[in-house]
Amino acid sequence: MCGIVGYVGGQSAAPILLDGLKKLEYRGYDSAGIAALHDGTITLRKVTGRIANLCALTEDGKTVPGTVGIGHTRWATHGAPTDQNAHPHTSNDGRFAVVHNGIIENHLQLRDELQKKGYHFESETDTEVIVHLLEHYYRGDLKTAVLKVTARLQGSYALGILCADAPDQLLAVREASPLLIGVGIGSNYFASDVTALVAHTRNIISLEDGELAILTADDVSVFDCAGRPVQKSISRITWDVQAAEKGGYAHFMLKEMMEQPAAVEATLSPRIRNDAVCLDEITLSDETIRSFRKIVITACGSAYYAGCAGRYAIEHLCRVPVQVELASELRYNNPMIDGETLLIVLSQSGETADTIAALKECKQRGASVLAVVNVVGSTIARLADDVLYTWAGPEIAVATTKGYTTQLAVLYLFALYAAHVRGTIDEPTYAKLVRTLRSAPSGMQQALDLNPKIPKLAKKYHRSPSIFFIGRNTDYAVALEGALKMKEISYLHAEAYAAGELKHGTIALIHDGQPVIALCCNPAIAAKTMSNIIEVKARGAEVLAVAVRGTQEIASVADDLIFIPRMEPLFAAIVEIVPLQLLAYHVAKENGCDIDKPKNLAKSVTVE
Ligand code: G6P
Repeated sequence: MCGIVGYVGGQSAAPILLDGLKKLEYRGYDSAGIAALHDGTITLRKVTGRIANLCALTEDGKTVPGTVGIGHTRWATHGAPTDQNAHPHTSNDGRFAVVHNGIIENHLQLRDELQKKGYHFESETDTEVIVHLLEHYYRGDLKTAVLKVTARLQGSYALGILCADAPDQLLAVREASPLLIGVGIGSNYFASDVTALVAHTRNIISLEDGELAILTADDVSVFDCAGRPVQKSISRITWDVQAAEKGGYAHFMLKEMMEQPAAVEATLSPRIRNDAVCLDEITLSDETIRSFRKIVITACGSAYYAGCAGRYAIEHLCRVPVQVELASELRYNNPMIDGETLLIVLSQSGETADTIAALKECKQRGASVLAVVNVVGSTIARLADDVLYTWAGPEIAVATTKGYTTQLAVLYLFALYAAHVRGTIDEPTYAKLVRTLRSAPSGMQQALDLNPKIPKLAKKYHRSPSIFFIGRNTDYAVALEGALKMKEISYLHAEAYAAGELKHGTIALIHDGQPVIALCCNPAIAAKTMSNIIEVKARGAEVLAVAVRGTQEIASVADDLIFIPRMEPLFAAIVEIVPLQLLAYHVAKENGCDIDKPKNLAKSVTVE
């Protein structure tokens, strides 16, 4: 939800800001803007639409002079995506420019107060109050003014601030929105995430909530919310520049789908030794793992669906009740969570606002928190008691693929590990299942090798106004994620149903030619799903079945078939989702959709 960048150094700021914004475009892409400071004057350029429009408007930054500047790419919350609502916002006296990621919850009250004082507003955004407050509180010392402003703000913010009176300085401050400082040589940077920094520096300082940083070309100083200096350590980014590039693929999503076997391999292999799962990185003791009476998994979007799939493996293997909760709901439910609960938080970005809020709520109630996160050092990783990283590398496409499958991989690892510790699995079964899980990357590769066959199916289905996905048990969990992939990138109406529920109402929607994607990858219950296929076929549905090799009987009932390699049903989701990702991708391509940046969406959802 919005990306911000800042640069101070010896070079022209604008091209560097534009380049950083391109990397952050996945966070929001309805409008963008930059501001740079030169000879005591702030030059501001902002425009509706993609970064490409901003590049055209500024002649790739050439018309915006200055060696210190800030930039923003927006996902609209307050006010439509217009030029006026685009950031940066400037003060009435033109001395301040601000970029903001987050939401100021008390903005109406502040706007009213500032308007009464005579400040004139040019946008409908919540952000604009910040820049007028700055002008109001500024008495010659920028840091003091910013601390006075942040003391007035409620909500979340990562702010980048430029002041005409401080020509060689940038100010950055955060509260509940991501913000990193990139430490260079003769230049310093800030950005919402590492992808915008890695081309310039691998040395990073993560700001904590309430911290403020003053950046000059040669120095970064960090202060707490009372203005006292804070010593910060520098960490090194391990991602390389190429990992955040398309590398010859038509879309990031295609590249990221193809990277899945390697990403899952990187997630599994360091944690499997001699047919045993080793989770050296967590501090949870065996005794604590044995003491949990309940596990709650919480997340948003696809991460939530990964939790839905992982639940089956954990419950089955560990014999402990697992509740999977949408983070945006859990936090308001007065959840029954205590010291005997393990909370597993799933998040690719580690910055999803609702997930962070749910984590905090459950932690307060005494739960032990285990985070499964892709971005090292992200907020969720830092708030949790323990972290199991998914080693997926940067994920740029808004629709997650390798983020989701690596989350599954970690949940399966944890299920096996905890089952072993709790003594709910016998040794031979444990060793056999660990070996099976170890083979997941090869199964996924075989599923990816089906890619050339998928465009034909996409051509058949891409004009359908809606598609149903059905399945039972883990197949149902995969159906949920498959339907989400389809709707988010191809804009087709797609719904997932537990196959057994069809006859309780939904079957009324089945008519001649209605596409139904039936998932039957658990041979033990495939016969039941086959009955549901027959029921929808009898009402005219066109059925594409996804089944494991060796279940040929499906061929007699389905119109089209995708066979995936055989896999232990508890872990099958990690392979089974692959053809559904490919199908969504090719349907979206047929429909001419913007696959990596679907309309109305953003990858990192830092607003509640
Ligand atoms: C957005 C993304 C999804 C993601 C969800 C949760 O909706 O588009 O791909 O699953 O947020 O994000 P997280 O970073 O917490 O996994």
